[in-house]
Amino acid sequence: MQAFQRFPYPPSLPAEVPEDLLPKLSELRDEFGTDKDHLKHVTDHFVKELERGLTEEGGDIPMNITWVTDFPTGNERGKYLTLDLGGTNLRVCEVSLSAQKGDFAFTQRKYKLPENLRSAPVVELWDFIAECVHMFIEEHHSEFSAEEKLPLAFTFSYPVLQKSIKEGILQRWTKDYSCPGAEGNDIVAQLEASMDKKQVPVEVVALVNDTTGTLIATAYRDPQVRIGSIFSTGCNSAYVEACSAIPKIKHAGLPPDSKVAINTECGAFDNSCKVLRRTRFDKDIDACSPRQGQQLYEKIIAGRYLGEIVRRVLLELHNNNGLFRDQDASELNTPHILEASFLSSVEEDNSHLREGVYSLLKEGLGVESTVPERRITRFLVEIVGTRAARLYACGIAAICKKRDIKTGVVGVDGSTFNHYTRFRLRVTQAMRDIMEWPDDIKDPITFEVSEDGSGVGAALIAALTLGETQPEVADGATW
Ligand code: GLC
Repeated sequence: MQAFQRFPYPPSLPAEVPEDLLPKLSELRDEFGTDKDHLKHVTDHFVKELERGLTEEGGDIPMNITWVTDFPTGNERGKYLTLDLGGTNLRVCEVSLSAQKGDFAFTQRKYKLPENLRSAPVVELWDFIAECVHMFIEEHHSEFSAEEKLPLAFTFSYPVLQKSIKEGILQRWTKDYSCPGAEGNDIVAQLEASMDKKQVPVEVVALVNDTTGTLIATAYRDPQVRIGSIFSTGCNSAYVEACSAIPKIKHAGLPPDSKVAINTECGAFDNSCKVLRRTRFDKDIDACSPRQGQQLYEKIIAGRYLGEIVRRVLLELHNNNGLFRDQDASELNTPHILEASFLSSVEEDNSHLREGVYSLLKEGLGVESTVPERRITRFLVEIVGTRAARLYACGIAAICKKRDIKTGVVGVDGSTFNHYTRFRLRVTQAMRDIMEWPDDIKDPITFEVSEDGSGVGAALIAALTLGETQPEVADGATW
């Protein structure tokens, strides 16, 4: 009985396409293959790497200590500014935790981040952010003066080494950011210097990773949560660890029975190339990225790279196998021309003649595709999306195995996860393959879309840090 079998693996070869292309397509499917044994092998290595990351000597995965040691009960109170530096936008919010237990209200504004700031000297980035926060405060808080600083929680979703919750040394940029002047420095001090320069009345009270924000925001409404995860431009997860299991903070003097949230920074998994099978497309993407040899797992699975992998495979088939023959497919040479949304849109087209794929190829690449070409494109999207989903599940399964989590919820935020239905189904299928759950039981570990990590999650962390909670009976998650 296969009561909960959701998604067959591997994707089937496309029907009604030229016979002579089938061996090539089958070869590509093998190259992107992630059968059950491979998933288990990757997961086992992942568990070891999570453990190594908690030791003094470390490994590929940073396993950063977040200093979030208190968890929400629903009694947190107060008003906080939150700031989220995303890939394309800067989001400033005012979050009020109040009134009803577990309730909140917020006002937010998004500011478009100019593309050049991804690589400009970092002071330009901080000045831009300070300016946006200034505008937000003018609009919403004109009564505040420089003497009365507003508490700000800053969601900064890059790996930082934290000695406390209010500081963070940037270990390295990820997601193709490369602003000089930040790596190796405390980015909170840098941001505050720009705020002071522009007389913006805020004080950073917490530096938060998006995964930790998601973990805490999900815990606020669902005590079953065990992992907070992001699957978007980048990919990463956070969970709560027993301090006694973290040799690298042995000297911090934390009570051995206390717990702390760990930002795994698992996008760096297998940087030492032990278990992941990287195709020539993955190797080329890495070679063209600003930080070569880093974030190798993320570069195989995350939203920033999915469209780019598909583009490179399409280009190879165009150059060597006559795909889009006699067409001007020059757009296929433009890096990152296809985004992750291309994959979800292609997979949403269920029409027999793949008319939706026709429009997507026309709009995205300017090519007039034949029906077989659209079927091939769909197949390529499936093999790339399937590999990403199944390898993403390995990271989640590894945390569950490491922490002996048998049931619970994974709170996930990120456009790629939230808008790509078949991706989600593949992740749950892969969890089944790895965890060997009996076919006749429902998934003991489920995934929940959680969208408020950088707003309410960050505000909750600020409240917990400042001790702004009502002294009621604690009934939050038990970790
Ligand atoms: C990258 C960052 C990480 C972040 C993730 C999702 O992996 O290094 O900090 O959580 O992207 O945004």
